[in-house]
Amino acid sequence: MKGIILAGGSGTRLRPLTGVVSKQILPVYNKPMIYYPLSVLMLAGIRETLIISTPQHLEMFRSLLGDGSHLGLDIRYTEQKEPNGIAEAFTLGADHIGDDEVTLILGDNVFHGHGFSELLRTTAERLDGCALFGYPVHDPWRYGIAELDAERRLVGLTEKPRDPRSNIAVTGLYMYDNDVVAIARDLVPSDRGELEITDVNRVYLDQGRARLAELGRGFVWLDTGTHDALLEAGQYVQILEQRQGVRIGCVEEVAYRKGFITAEQCHRLGLQQAGTDYGSYLLDLVETEPSPVRRIHAEPFAVQAPVGPR
Ligand code: G1P
Repeated sequence: MKGIILAGGSGTRLRPLTGVVSKQILPVYNKPMIYYPLSVLMLAGIRETLIISTPQHLEMFRSLLGDGSHLGLDIRYTEQKEPNGIAEAFTLGADHIGDDEVTLILGDNVFHGHGFSELLRTTAERLDGCALFGYPVHDPWRYGIAELDAERRLVGLTEKPRDPRSNIAVTGLYMYDNDVVAIARDLVPSDRGELEITDVNRVYLDQGRARLAELGRGFVWLDTGTHDALLEAGQYVQILEQRQGVRIGCVEEVAYRKGFITAEQCHRLGLQQAGTDYGSYLLDLVETEPSPVRRIHAEPFAVQAPVGPR
């Protein structure tokens, strides 16, 4: 399974914040926004990810994340020259996808919830066609909306309906088999001139190969599209992190816990950010867990050993 993060768009609704900076670089509390979707792909076990952004913003992502090797990842970059729609990700990313399956996540989507990595893993394992993730919202006209039958099977998809048939939004996280590349190539732009992701999903639905996993009340899917929503997302992360003492969307931690990097590498990443809470968190992570790294790095920080009989 390959990953794609689409981090394009001009972020007009967030101006002047996005005057010179990409929306997906903006802080959500203590991390750049893109850390959150990147950590979702990592939780799904995906290590080869393509980041797609505008020509003016792509370099920011490259300087932030490089080739991804420090996280045990392989990250590549491609430009989306014009805002031609989400589904263009599959034609721009065709070489990256190769003959593999692919998970696409929008660079401004923040997910959080107990059991999320398990859900991602099982959904990827059982993938047959396309898998979408639904979430109840109070403003369905702003999203792609899923229509469900009495057995809660997916029967319809509409992009930003004026007259929504349900309040289940299709979130910006999508898993596909390899057919998605050919489907995207055959798409016709919508009235607003874009290659719509909902049109891709409809092709799978018509083939009887689209499934919807509903994210229940215990999950959080946050919007970052307006100044208020961005601040609220940051506050959500702040409250949870401070209360629980754990980090959300901490790519270094996910890399370590998934075994993409060793404890020693994680420790080094912590040292690089020493003097910040974030760096201390990474150091604590490996130092509170039994690992050889504690011994390797203990010396420079060692407190004088108490003198006493041997
Ligand atoms: C896009 C999709 C929409 C989806 C949403 C999730 O909308 O077109 O189907 O529900 O992302 O974030 P956009 O945010 O580009 O308006």
